[in-house]
Amino acid sequence: MIDRVLVSIDTHRDASLEGLKAFLRIPSVSTHPPHKPDVLRCAEFVAAEMRRIGLRQVEVTPTTGHPIVYGEWLDAPGKPTVLMYGHYDVQPPEPLDLWDSGPFDPTVRGDNLYARGATDDKGQVWLHLKALDAHLTQTGRLPVNVKLLIEGEEEIGSPHLDAYVRANQDRLRADVVLISDTTMFDYDQPSICYGLRGLVYMEIEVQGPSKDLHSGGFGGSVANPVQALAEILTALKDPDGRITIPGFYDDVQPLTPEERAALAALPFDEDAYRTRLGVSALAGETGYSTLERIWARPTLEVNGILGGFTGEGSKTIIPSRGMAKVSMRLVPDQTPDRIAALFEEHVTRLAPPTVTVTVKRHSSGKPVLTPTDQSAVQAAAHALERGFGKKPVFIREGGSIPVVATFREVLGLPTVLMGFGLPDCDAHAPNEKFNLKNFYRGMVSAAWFYEELGKSSDK
Ligand code: BES
Ligand code: ZN
Repeated sequence: MIDRVLVSIDTHRDASLEGLKAFLRIPSVSTHPPHKPDVLRCAEFVAAEMRRIGLRQVEVTPTTGHPIVYGEWLDAPGKPTVLMYGHYDVQPPEPLDLWDSGPFDPTVRGDNLYARGATDDKGQVWLHLKALDAHLTQTGRLPVNVKLLIEGEEEIGSPHLDAYVRANQDRLRADVVLISDTTMFDYDQPSICYGLRGLVYMEIEVQGPSKDLHSGGFGGSVANPVQALAEILTALKDPDGRITIPGFYDDVQPLTPEERAALAALPFDEDAYRTRLGVSALAGETGYSTLERIWARPTLEVNGILGGFTGEGSKTIIPSRGMAKVSMRLVPDQTPDRIAALFEEHVTRLAPPTVTVTVKRHSSGKPVLTPTDQSAVQAAAHALERGFGKKPVFIREGGSIPVVATFREVLGLPTVLMGFGLPDCDAHAPNEKFNLKNFYRGMVSAAWFYEELGKSSDK
């Protein structure tokens, strides 16, 4: 039976690509309120495809933010149930002038499909829909029970998904969660990810004088809020790249010697990595390798900073305010709540009395490590080997998928992270792309995953 499924995937390559392009044309930017109707349209698009391929109970559930799409196929009694999660929302495409083709005008150049969301995560959601489609059309059934949960707020920290999962525990009951929203270690090197960092995203506002002041008329008599902001930011890290917030590292699980050895054994080309990023030297916390710094150590980054006069020419002012967006990536067992509180306390302590500093909290997500000794991981490993002709490596990643912790805490479910992006796919950046060969190999691997899991004796 699987042979027919694989032939079908192969003969429908072009149609699958066209379908993905239609998905990518919808500008489902979740963080930008004017796109709300587009995000809704995108949810309906996903639901329509789920219905078309034969999933049941397909539902678009509104939230006070963006809708959640659900569909299921439960006609494999005695077989395991997979909860496949993905997201149909995307990051903002700006700066637009750096795109070689429009972010919502999906374009094939060379081996890649370029568009916002191409890998993160529309392309990876689509490859699952197409794999399920091939199974259903060729065999009239699926090898396992499947529940699909595709949300529209992942890129803003999934603010309404926890409540949905809590309220729908029965509906979402399953044996394992499967997610394709991560990257492969390298082209041709399939990978299973067993750890994601968490995140807490903050905003600091520094208010000085009630309006901009003439820097000659008033300079010397009042504190400059942009300078104060810069001083606060500078004080958040020491010269060794360690974060100075008291208590920040208290809950960090240290790397074991075994894990350090396993990470060191991966064929990581540090020079190629540095060159690709366009930097003259890499930087980070003293005492850790690059992979350890990205995957297993917490970080603090200034995402953006705003304040004062930045136009052409010169204007002599003391600005009235400054603002910075600062995020911290977390590792087990740090929690966003505690780290946000420690950050607030520390920034408040650092604030000079001459300005007014306020700290706001945006999105957050918990870090996770997922078990690798489960049969679904074996199924994924076999599936990837079938799809790529090569055994997968086990990796961690630096990015975050907030709901993974919720699936474990609320539903008691482990997650398998079987991603098909590449380190240079430019997710969140201009010219995001999905390698087409990996899109097809991903479809094949997904088809095999459901097949292999159906054979496993879990149930
Ligand atoms: N697909 C990413 C997560 C990811 C990124 C996994 C890189 C592995 C490597 C996901 O769509 C994402 O970007 N998540 C956000 C979550 C945040 C807003 C809470 C992230 O990591 O910034
Ligand atoms: Zn993303």
